[in-house]
Order: sequence, then C-alpha cells, then structure tokens
Amino acid sequence: MWKTVAACALGLGMTAVCAKTLVVSYSFTGNADRIAAALVKEIKADQIKIEPAQKGIDYAANNYSIGSDLVGEIRQKPDSEASYPKIDPVKVDWSQYSTVIIATPLWWSNMAASMQTFLFENGKDMSGKKIGLIVTSASSGISGVERDAKRLIPGGDFYSPSLWIRSSQSSSAGSMIADWLKRIHYDEAAK
Ligand SMILES: Cc1cc2nc3c(=O)[nH]c(=O)nc-3n(C[C@H](O)[C@H](O)[C@H](O)COP(=O)(O)O)c2cc1C
Repeated sequence: MWKTVAACALGLGMTAVCAKTLVVSYSFTGNADRIAAALVKEIKADQIKIEPAQKGIDYAANNYSIGSDLVGEIRQKPDSEASYPKIDPVKVDWSQYSTVIIATPLWWSNMAASMQTFLFENGKDMSGKKIGLIVTSASSGISGVERDAKRLIPGGDFYSPSLWIRSSQSSSAGSMIADWLKRIHYDEAAK
C-alpha cells in the first residue's frame, strides 16, 4: 500500500499520476499468455489480454498462410488503419501507467498482427513511458518484432535488451523473467 502511494505524484492539474505497470499480452497458442502470467507473479501490475474480433481463426492453417497474410498486409501499408485486423475494443486509462510490458508472439519475423493493431491504436498514448518487450518464437530472432514495437510506439522509452523466450523454453519463463527484470533494472518503485 505504502509503495503504491509513494509511487504516485501530484501532476499539474493536481490529479494523482501513478507509477503503475500494465502488462499487455496477445497469444494464439497460449505461450505469451503463460509468459504474462509468470510476469505478474514477479511484479505488481495490471494486466490485459488482446483478443482478435474475429473468433476461431486458425492462423497456423495451410502452413501459417492466414497469419502470414495478416502480417503481410501490415508490412505493405503500415500507416493505414485498414491493414490491421480488428480486435475487441480495449479502453486503457494511460494516465495510470508509467510502464508497459508487452508479451507477444513472433509471426514471420514480425510482431503478431493483433498486438500490432493494439499498438497502432494506442502507441501514441504510450509516449514517454518505459516499455518492456517480451517475445516468444519457435526459433526466429526477434529484431523484426523490436522494429515493429519502435515503429508503433515512436515515443516509447524502451528497456534494453528485450527478452526472447523460445516456445521450448516456456517452462523456464519464470526464472528467465526474474533474471531479465534484474538485468534491465526494472523500476523497484513500480514493483
Ligand atoms: C502465423 C504464425 C507465424 C509464425 N511464424 C514464426 C516464425 O517465422 N518463426 C518462428 O520461430 N516461429 C513462428 N511462429 C511460432 C510462434 O512464434 C511460437 O509458437 C510462439 O511461441 C507462439 O506464441 P503463442 O502461443 O503465444 O501464440 C509462428 C506462429 C504463427 C501462428
């Protein structure tokens, strides 16, 4: 309780601005959600999960072609709202958060499409906030996902390095996350 109060400050309009953390995850087969669950065991944070508006799609069908088409459209026209698949509406009071940690899968070397939609809609509101990125992939390196995050949150103050957890490492996610939080000097006040 004391920590929460101590982490809040009175802003210009005398409204309390709190140094809280928001964990945002999107997951198709469960790995990123398991990572987010392990993360919120380590830190004090609010949590939201992004859900595609269209339900029941198998993004892995036909050799991952549906997922591939979705990220392909974004790659072609990243500035057009029409390129991003619809997600269920999410309303975030950004004034409450100083830190956002994103847990997302990699799709064809990019950030999974629905998480890109969330950041396309909200990234500008995340300017000046500390941003942590945790990416799960089968084997591909995560630099393309980091590029997507930086494009979609142009004013973000990114923790470095990001954390890469391969699907095969999902059972060690808890200890990898604990090590990562130490490595990035995650703000103790927000814990
Ligand atoms: C459409 C699609 C494309 C993918 N592309 C890649 C890829 O290029 N490289 C890779 O290593 N893994 C790829 N994967 C595997 C996922 O990144 C990996 O299984 C991840 O752990 C899934 O996270 P999730 O369970 O939260 O959905 C892909 C998965 C899907 C569904």
